[in-house]
Amino acid sequence: MTTLAHYLKEHAADSAISDVITTITDVGKTISQLLRKGALADILGEAGNQNVQGEDQKKLDVLANDLLLEALAQNAHCAGVASEELDDATPANADGSLLVLFDPLDGSSNIDINMAVGTIFSILLYQRQGQTSENSDFLQAGNKQLAAGYLLYGTSTVLALTIADNVVMFSLDPDTGDYVLIEDNVQIDADTSEYAINSSNYRYWRAPMQQYIDELIAGEDGVRGRDFNTRWVAAMVGDVHRILCRGGLFTYPFDTKYAHKAGKLRLMYEANPMSLLIERAGGGATDATNRILDITPTDIHQRVPVVLGSKNEVDYIKDLHVNHADK
Ligand code: F6P
Ligand code: MN
Repeated sequence: MTTLAHYLKEHAADSAISDVITTITDVGKTISQLLRKGALADILGEAGNQNVQGEDQKKLDVLANDLLLEALAQNAHCAGVASEELDDATPANADGSLLVLFDPLDGSSNIDINMAVGTIFSILLYQRQGQTSENSDFLQAGNKQLAAGYLLYGTSTVLALTIADNVVMFSLDPDTGDYVLIEDNVQIDADTSEYAINSSNYRYWRAPMQQYIDELIAGEDGVRGRDFNTRWVAAMVGDVHRILCRGGLFTYPFDTKYAHKAGKLRLMYEANPMSLLIERAGGGATDATNRILDITPTDIHQRVPVVLGSKNEVDYIKDLHVNHADK
């Protein structure tokens, strides 16, 4: 049996990364326990304010955010923290060598209905050690991530992590409190017949995405010559986990629903960490034309269209967009 502690000892590049991942995953145990208590922990419902993206916060969003922030602020290796829930990054220990970004509770509208939610995290190198970190220190392309992962609080709590070339998964043993290795080289099939998209936004998509979904719905009667099946967890962390388990295609594409936004998902807290996991598992991740991991961020909260999962399907969508007159 390999625990997370053993794995980090063997594979982490240095003790800083190992320590920071341990801090995040320890908080994950607390969040997991709170979720298990559900309504009994008095954590459900609106917190009464909105986050920086203008969305209602649930009580547990706030709690998960605060727990992560407090724990990471006390970690000597952590120079700063950026959260989806906070306007600005929070400086931590100037002598630290790492920056941490997180979506404390992805898919939070699922909490009140007892469905899966998760914590997504990304770790970057801090390049101005000794000085107080600022928002601009976080503006590094996803290909610079030193590590990334998520905790999925589903029927069991699972950690997916990449700190080396591969992707590994651990399951939290509720009896011992240990994360136990369950997969040590996650790989995604290049082909799939399963896809995830919120089709109610169809009229807001660009023509190539509409064409793509039309083709999938036509199934064996259409140009794809086979039937496809839809799955939508409404928490990216759940959809990405399914894809790491059995392949598939996930997209939250560009849409014109909110004219000022390029897409719904956040580059730094969602798209980058998930893209690193997916690519290292052999899949693809694009904004429909460009590799997500190569995008240079200009704002810590920027949004991006996301297409990720089984390689051949991602490439198919990319080709449709590149070759379409209406991109
Ligand atoms: O964080 C945003 C998010 O909750 C994702 O986790 C999820 O994939 C998506 O939004 C769900 O969007 P919708 O509300 O359109 O189904
Ligand atoms: Mn989210």
